[in-house]
Amino acid sequence: MSILIRNIKKLVQVEESPRTFVAGKDMAKLNSISEAWLSIESGRIAAFGKMSELDNALTPDEVIDASGKMVFPSFCDSHTHLVYPASREIEYIDKIKGLSYEEIAKRGGGILNSAKRMQEISEEELFNSAYQRLNEIMYLGTGAVEIKSGYGLNLQSELKMLRVIKKLKASHPLTIKSTFLGAHAIPPAFKSRQSEYVDLVINEMIPQVSAEELADYIDVFCDKGFFTVEDTDRILNAGMKYGLRPKIHANELDYSGGIQVGVKYNALSVDHLEFTDDKEIKSLYGTETMPTVLPGAAFFLGMIHAPVRKMIDAGLPIALASDFNPGSSPSGNMQFILSMGSIVYNMLAEEGINATTINSAYAMGVSEELGSITVGKKANIFITNEIPSIEFMPYAYGSNKVEVVIINGIKK
Ligand code: NIG
Ligand code: FE
Repeated sequence: MSILIRNIKKLVQVEESPRTFVAGKDMAKLNSISEAWLSIESGRIAAFGKMSELDNALTPDEVIDASGKMVFPSFCDSHTHLVYPASREIEYIDKIKGLSYEEIAKRGGGILNSAKRMQEISEEELFNSAYQRLNEIMYLGTGAVEIKSGYGLNLQSELKMLRVIKKLKASHPLTIKSTFLGAHAIPPAFKSRQSEYVDLVINEMIPQVSAEELADYIDVFCDKGFFTVEDTDRILNAGMKYGLRPKIHANELDYSGGIQVGVKYNALSVDHLEFTDDKEIKSLYGTETMPTVLPGAAFFLGMIHAPVRKMIDAGLPIALASDFNPGSSPSGNMQFILSMGSIVYNMLAEEGINATTINSAYAMGVSEELGSITVGKKANIFITNEIPSIEFMPYAYGSNKVEVVIINGIKK
């Protein structure tokens, strides 16, 4: 199957020689070609260029005219919990009435509420609901997604979640990475025996997850009221022995030390980062750890905002992801995340696009395959409807600008 897209108003995020990620001032740079064409063959990006130099010898199976429209690499959503048993709009009423995320969690709501439902739901139901969510985000422009476990909180249920993610990988066209998040919350049975739960994660869960090859990465919710730096240190150290690179939840609720412990273990990313100051910025600078901000969760929970401008100005890279989950961010719409990046965090359109494509691809370990329009990369792209400028993408929040989605070179 080959496709030629002609008359593209702007072909966005093109790279001749691919980079792993972009940081600091470079985040405001975005390579694009006006009046362009793009050809796709056997699921890959085959060639692209200016219309004035279009190769007339091409004989594609399908020609798409994209006059007035732009072509983007699909979004990479590097942080989600989209395998979950049920929505949680009931406890959301408590939130509206003024209870904080931590207070809801203390009452047995939050992650523990999802964990209870997880024990009851069948693997099939869990799979089907997640498959639908994958379809939903695919049509909104996402081409790759990371999915975490963490609503199991015991060996059997964690394995159930991870097996569902493995099945999704095998059956859904999106590129999927899987993360083991056994240390997401302390289950009630271990209430005053936190370190024993950490032992269970280390001695029983990690070896089994690894034996079944169920996870690409390992995560810990390192924050006030959840797991300590010491717990995190132990878990990441154990994960490392099984080749599991960390991607961790850090500094959402406090200056938890999570960023530093993530960097210490060469985490692929540290995510949330509402509580980030000079010390944390310094610890991230020059490392291979991608600072990842989740605007949906901060917005939904009414939290303070990560100092994105300050971080970029200090020379750091930033990735943006949705955190799609039933408790703190019940949306996986990356177009909306891009808008929030600019509206709430003062990111330029170029910075937001870099943060949701090349940098978020890096944050989930797929930047060699995805995240830019580069010859040889997977043909996961979208064609917009007619839009006046790239700025229109973040500006027109709430409306769907994605018209055609192509995944692995196939129109959806
Ligand atoms: O990323 N912060 C921790 N975990 C999730 C929330 C999960 C939930 O509430 O179900 C998050 O926001
Ligand atoms: Fe999360």
